[in-house]
Amino acid sequence: MWEDHEVDRRALAIRPGARVVVVAGAGDRALDAVAWGAGEVVAVDLNPSQLRLCALKVAAASTLDTTDLVALFSAGRRPGVRRLYRERLRPRLDPTEQRYWDRYIDVFEMGLHRHHPVGFALWLLSLSLRAIGGRELRHLIAAAPDATTQARWYERRLRWRYWNRPTRWLMRQTALLRLVVVHAGERDSMRSQSFHEWLEARISRSVEVTLIRENPYWMGLLSGHPVTPEHEETWLRPDSVGRLSRAREIIHLEQGSIVDYLEARAPGSVDAVGLSNVPDWLGAADLERLWSGLASALVPGGRAVLRSAYRTAPLPTGPAAVLLRLDRELSETSSDLEQTGIYASVSVLHRALDSAPARAGGTP
Ligand SMILES: C[S@@+](CC[C@H](N)C(=O)[O-])C[C@H]1O[C@@H](n2cnc3c(N)ncnc32)[C@H](O)[C@@H]1O
Repeated sequence: MWEDHEVDRRALAIRPGARVVVVAGAGDRALDAVAWGAGEVVAVDLNPSQLRLCALKVAAASTLDTTDLVALFSAGRRPGVRRLYRERLRPRLDPTEQRYWDRYIDVFEMGLHRHHPVGFALWLLSLSLRAIGGRELRHLIAAAPDATTQARWYERRLRWRYWNRPTRWLMRQTALLRLVVVHAGERDSMRSQSFHEWLEARISRSVEVTLIRENPYWMGLLSGHPVTPEHEETWLRPDSVGRLSRAREIIHLEQGSIVDYLEARAPGSVDAVGLSNVPDWLGAADLERLWSGLASALVPGGRAVLRSAYRTAPLPTGPAAVLLRLDRELSETSSDLEQTGIYASVSVLHRALDSAPARAGGTP
């Protein structure tokens, strides 16, 4: 999942026992939340395949060591996976998930990340970035002593190779963007807002913030290898292993829209919500429902985080804006430090301490 886990850790400030709701995506944030101490995590997604992947990660996290977890989900390749699956993972899945993975588990033999068309396009992008960067890039990754020096080397020796007239022209081509940005509305908006300008600036900032060899998002793409385990996303780190043994009891998977889910939650029953960049994907009516559901579901003092690929992020409006307050300082720091560098902004919302709005219904 290309969403900086460190940003979410600071933004959501999960306390021991916290009740957390996240957009499931590839499942990493739900598992990170367990490693950060959450007592209940609901991972919601429209896409059942994402939930199956989450279920596999949850099963794996509660039984495998870091070496196997990293091989499966960071490198995306684990020779001999079928036996590992049969003996350790399959018994921890429900019958529907078993049927799914009986059929697809071999993708880890060939390479999970290349299996999906988007993954395949990213793999081609990775080969191109590595070929263009050549020896300079390999040297920068292996030898830059600190992020400031790395940024200086990047600006002097590499930036022009990646950002020039032909590449800027290529980035304006919708057909190419379609390969890696799946949502049509997001794609159109990114194009019309000259996204390559902010992307170039964000990537320059990202190399100032973190060494590439310690950046779990860029290292794979730019070198073909994962970072060392201590720099992985929280749940894949060696010191998280013991904390994930109860992941199966703590994480609940829900198929459906996060908008409907939050609307149905009992008022004041959630401490933290991770919205991914789902607000970018919603129409005006659903956005309005999202903000009012979020304002109601969050406990006073609760927090939410969202990313946006738009220059102007969709933010709460109407009555919900009174209860959901943008934390400007934390949002700016989060946007600035986001290690992926692919979002125009990160926004952190605080549920005001006033009492929850009166609303009928809702389930816990
Ligand atoms: C918004 S996408 C973005 C991808 C993400 N930034 C990443 O790096 O993987 C994340 C997930 O949101 C899910 N999704 C989209 N709209 C949703 C909705 N209204 N409710 C729940 N999940 C949704 C997609 O199926 C996908 O798994």
